[in-house]
Parts: sequence; C-alpha cells; structure tokens
Amino acid sequence: MELPKRYTITAALPYTNGPIHIGHLAGVYVPADIYARFMRMQGREVAFVCGSDEHGVPITIKAKKEGVSPQDVVDKYHKIIKKSFQDFGISFDNYSRTSAEVHHKTASEFFKKLYDAGKFTEETTQQLFDPEAEQFLADRFVVGTCPKCGYEESYGDQCEKCGTSHNATDLINPKSAITGSKPVLKETRHWFLPLDQYEGWLREWILEGHKKDWKSNVYGQVKSWIDDGLRPRAVTRDLDWGIPVPVEGGEGKVLYVWFDAPIGYISSTKEWAEKTGRDWEPYWKSEDTKLVHFIGKDNIVFHCVIFPAMLKAEGSYILPENVPANEFLNLEGNKLSTSKNWAVWLHEYLEEFPGQQDVLRYALTANAPETKDNDFTWKDFQARNNNELVAIFGNFINRVVVLTNKYYDGVVPKPGEFSEVDEQTLAELRAYPAVIASSIERYRFREAQGELMNVARLGNKYLADEEPWKLIKTDEERVKTIMYVALQIATALANLSEPFLPYTAEKLKRMLDYGKASSEANEAAIVEDDRENQWEQINKESVLLPAGHQIGKGELLFSKIEDEQIQKQLEKLEATKAANIADNKKAEPQKETATFEDFSKIDLRVGTIVEAEKMLKANKLLVLKVDTGLDVRTIVSGIAESFKPEDIIGKKVTVLINLAPRKLRGVESEGMILMTENASGKLVFLNPDEDGVKEGTVIS
Ligand code: MF3
Ligand code: ZN
Repeated sequence: MELPKRYTITAALPYTNGPIHIGHLAGVYVPADIYARFMRMQGREVAFVCGSDEHGVPITIKAKKEGVSPQDVVDKYHKIIKKSFQDFGISFDNYSRTSAEVHHKTASEFFKKLYDAGKFTEETTQQLFDPEAEQFLADRFVVGTCPKCGYEESYGDQCEKCGTSHNATDLINPKSAITGSKPVLKETRHWFLPLDQYEGWLREWILEGHKKDWKSNVYGQVKSWIDDGLRPRAVTRDLDWGIPVPVEGGEGKVLYVWFDAPIGYISSTKEWAEKTGRDWEPYWKSEDTKLVHFIGKDNIVFHCVIFPAMLKAEGSYILPENVPANEFLNLEGNKLSTSKNWAVWLHEYLEEFPGQQDVLRYALTANAPETKDNDFTWKDFQARNNNELVAIFGNFINRVVVLTNKYYDGVVPKPGEFSEVDEQTLAELRAYPAVIASSIERYRFREAQGELMNVARLGNKYLADEEPWKLIKTDEERVKTIMYVALQIATALANLSEPFLPYTAEKLKRMLDYGKASSEANEAAIVEDDRENQWEQINKESVLLPAGHQIGKGELLFSKIEDEQIQKQLEKLEATKAANIADNKKAEPQKETATFEDFSKIDLRVGTIVEAEKMLKANKLLVLKVDTGLDVRTIVSGIAESFKPEDIIGKKVTVLINLAPRKLRGVESEGMILMTENASGKLVFLNPDEDGVKEGTVIS
C-alpha cells in the first residue's frame, strides 16, 4: 500500500479535571502512540499532537466543589496529566493546553471567520436557567432523562448511555446539577451551526465514502445519527469560563467547549511548528496529509459530525481520513469512574511498579477495547507479564545475549552455510514487518502486537529446536550459524517492538549496541532511498547485526510479578468499594431536640480499658474492664468484630458512665463506650479526626 507522505495524528484532549487512568491510556493514547511511532519509523513526516482540554462545565463544577478557581484546577491537573504521558512514553510532538494564548487566538479567529462568512444562524431561544444559582444551564450543568433511550442521568449535551448528543432543552425532567432545583426557561441569544445543512454532504463523505475503511462501531453510530436527522447545534454558551465570543452581542458568552477543543489540535500543531521552525499549514491544509483522530467512543459524534462540519464550513482545511474510536475499558468488571475512584491511576501505578511502563502498555494493548468493551483485571496483567513478556520475549533475548557472551565474548560470529531451517526461519522473520504493518495500518493494534510476540516465539522455537547449548560440545561451527541467526531475530525484535514497547526496545538496542550496528549496516547494504525506512530494513535481504559486531552487556528486560503485588492491588480496589458503600449511606436524620437539662444529665468521662476478653458464645461482644477514674467497672461492648481484645488494652476511650445498668448475656454492663464508624464501615473509638470518619456519622 502506498502511504501518504505526511501524517497529522491527534489524540483526544483530556479534560483537565482529574488525573488520567488506564482507560484513557488503553482507549486513546497507547494506540495513537503505536501508530505515530510506527509512521515515524516508516520515514513519514508526523505531527502527533494533543493538549489539555481546559474549558467546559466539568472543570467549573470541580472548582466549585473544591472552593478554588477553574484556573487552579486546570493548572494542577495539566501538570499531572502531562507528566503521566511523558512517563508512559506517549511520544507527542507537542502537548499544549486550551488556555494557551495561541489557542484562544486560533479558536477566536476560527469562530470569527465562520461568523463573517454567514455560516452560523442566530437565534433567541428559551434556555434552561437555574433561578437559585442565577445561571443558565447547559451541558453537564443539567441532568435529566434522555429523550432517546430513557436513561435518567443523561447530561444536557450528551447521553452517556446511548451516546446521543442533544440540546439541554430536549431532556425530560431536567434538574440543575448545581443546586438540584428544577430549571425555568429564560430567553437568551446564541449562535448555531446548522448541522441540518450538512446532512447531504456528510452522507456522501462518510456513509458513501468511508463505508469500507472506517471501523464498524464508528460508522454505525454516525449512520444512526444522520438517519435520525441532524439539528442546528448551539456553539456558544452563557458561562464565564471559556473563550469569549469575539463578535458583537457576544458579551458574557463563551464558545461551547466542543467548538473550541478540537480546534486545539490545530493550535497545538501551530505551537509545535513555531517551536521547531516548521510550517504548520501543510499538516492541516495539504491534500497529501492524512489526518487521523484517536478518540474514545463517547467522542464519536464530535469528531465525525460536528468538527468536520466546522472544518468544511471554514473551507481551507482537510478532513479526517479516519477516526479509529475505541470502546470502553472496564476494571475488574466495573465501569471505570473518576468520581468513584474506580480506576488504576497512572501516577499511582508507577509508584507500585516503577520502571514497568511497558508492561502496562503491553497488557492494555493485548486487551484493547477495539471492537467491544473489555475488562482489565490484575490477574490478567500478571499473566501477560509472567507468561508472555518474561517467559517468551525476555527468555529468548536472555538466552541469545548470555550465549553470545559466553561463547564469543559478545562478538557476533561469522555464519557458515545456512541450513534449510535457517533459511526458512530467516524468510519467516523477513515477512513480519509487512504483517505487523498491515495490522497497524488497519488500526488493529492487538493483532499487531500479537504478531510481534510471534517473532519472539519464532526465536524461542528456533533455539529450542537447534539446541546450541548441546551442540557446542560436538559441532562448534554449526553453533556459530545458529547464534548468528538468533541474533538477527533479536535485532528484528528490538526494531519491531519500538512502537509497542518503547522502553524495552531502547534497552534491547543498547544491549545489542544496535545503534552502531545499524549505521554500519546502512553504509554497507541499504540503498539511499530506504535509508530512512527503519521498519522495512528487516525485510530487505540485508544483515541486521553483522558478523564481527560487538554487542553490549546483558540487562534485565522484564521481571516476574509476584502474587503479593497483585493481591495488594486487589485489596486497594476492595477498600475503594467499601469506601463507596459508606459514602452512599446517607447521614441519618437529626433526632428530636434535647434541652440543655436533657444534655446535662449525661455524664461522659475519659476512661482506660484495663482488661478485655471475648464473651463466650457471643460473636459480637467483648467484656471490658474500664478504669473511669472513679472505679474500675465492667462494660459489655458490641465491638468484637472490629477489635481484637489484646489490641485495645490500654486504650483511652470516652465512656458514658451514668447509663442505667443492664444485663447482656448474664453480665451486667455499667456504662457505654462511645464509638463511630470509618469509611469502610469499621467501628472505631470516638476520634472524629481518624482517617475516613465522615461528617454526619452517628456517635453511639
Ligand atoms: N475532553 C474530551 C473528553 O475527554 C475530549 C476532547 S477531544 C477534542 O472526552 F477534540 F475536543 F479535543
Ligand atoms: Zn440516551
């Protein structure tokens, strides 16, 4: 296949209202990165751009919740997100942010151009307004029932359940997400992009033009929207956080976040071009550029309908060649959720598994939600590492490097005549670059990575069949040829693994001292034209690692992940579950008023537990002896499921000493110890400052 010369590769700009987790990585950033790295290795001109999406309602909601400004929120998370991308080797050429000046300018001018060209319609309409918050409600400020699927928690601009995008006024039973109150209708004036006018064009461009090459999940969604009929879509909002509407009558209004954010791809390209002395325009305006958007499925309508309509209206831009959206990743059977903390956060992963970025990249690609939602489990993660990366890839490389050092002091031996098996193995090896390339070009990254592992399997099988460690005693000459062939496979792996496992590839190249070898090989064997095509070097007859080349020292590529490490992660998730359950428990309503006289009857004292033992045949009860300062008395307490007797002897506690005595299982109890609950529902002695004790928790 003849590939275009230039690629503009975009990855969805993440909302800057929280850190990023494995779902983001699996759905968008790892596949985009594999694609970008592969295209660079193919010698294409690549602009791989992204940035933080810093406008929009979720950010203002988060700011309100935390009592800080929206700018504070985005500054905090922009930094964290940007670092996570760097740490995981996501090789953006530029990572920008939509609060950057270049973006405000670009988005503003884009709007102005469409406005001047009469591409918008202007309408005064009734919009939802929260009288309590004195604010218009749009997008995520309002929830209600989706008119299409009946989901009760749909947002104003989009239903998370069925993916439909709608206007806030379409919701049934809308409710303000700020105050919970029922909104009223109030007049306001806005600009609309008349999507209905683009229907015919969209049909032709996507439904007819991209039936074969777009993924069926993407194509299917787009088709159903177009078939339902498109409606004009407001591109401005009554908000104070965002890019000011740059035309008359736009005072106090900002651009709709989904209008400005995708323009962020253009601004990010401009920023990069400026930094590196390039021209940005060919990346967005030249017909020999291929524009590809990597996104999650909830972004399909914006990238396949709204943004293309904007680009078309503007007139000077190219359109996306493909929008390979992924489905969602779940975690241990449940939907990933930032607000419920049901996630594996990237910055936390690296604390637990330092230096093991590639393992996560590998596990996520092996389980990528390419055609349907998929599940990430820690057990699978462990198995992928131990049974595949360690046992296949790592094992092969280790054998090759150890034996080469042992037999030849690390110098690549000169091969003798190739046997039939050698020829076959080398021929098979030379076929892999094209096989893997074909999968990547069709956005099948799991399949591509599977083929990469087959290269390692090929190597393992070759060594296992040829058994150089046995032959070395009887046929030293033959072993030279075997090791030579094995070294070529190892070198091919170093090359082919780069898009998938960049850190591993780098280590492996260092182990083989491949950088030096490849320049030698280039000089010798590769014709001028192919000099930049690193990928295809392998399927040329040329030598990857020439005889006489000295390889470097061995390094550990992968290490086994133990059961305890996995257990720890599972326990962490259990704790999150427990905390969420506790969170969902509503605070109990207030009891009847107590007069001061009522209260002053209560006699609370500080006491020390001096003895504690289990009550026979009662699972929940402990019999305590408590020193109250007045006496040492017996108190029966229902805390046996939360404390071991030996752990609480000597503890200071709050004791209600004038509670009428009563008999429990035959033992008279003369008071009560005050207790409360922590977030996971465990009883704790009264100390509101203890971790996880929530406001409203009853003391009893
Ligand atoms: N912030 C959006 C999300 O996380 C994605 C924006 S993509 C862009 O769902 F095209 F608008 F940039
Ligand atoms: Zn819906």
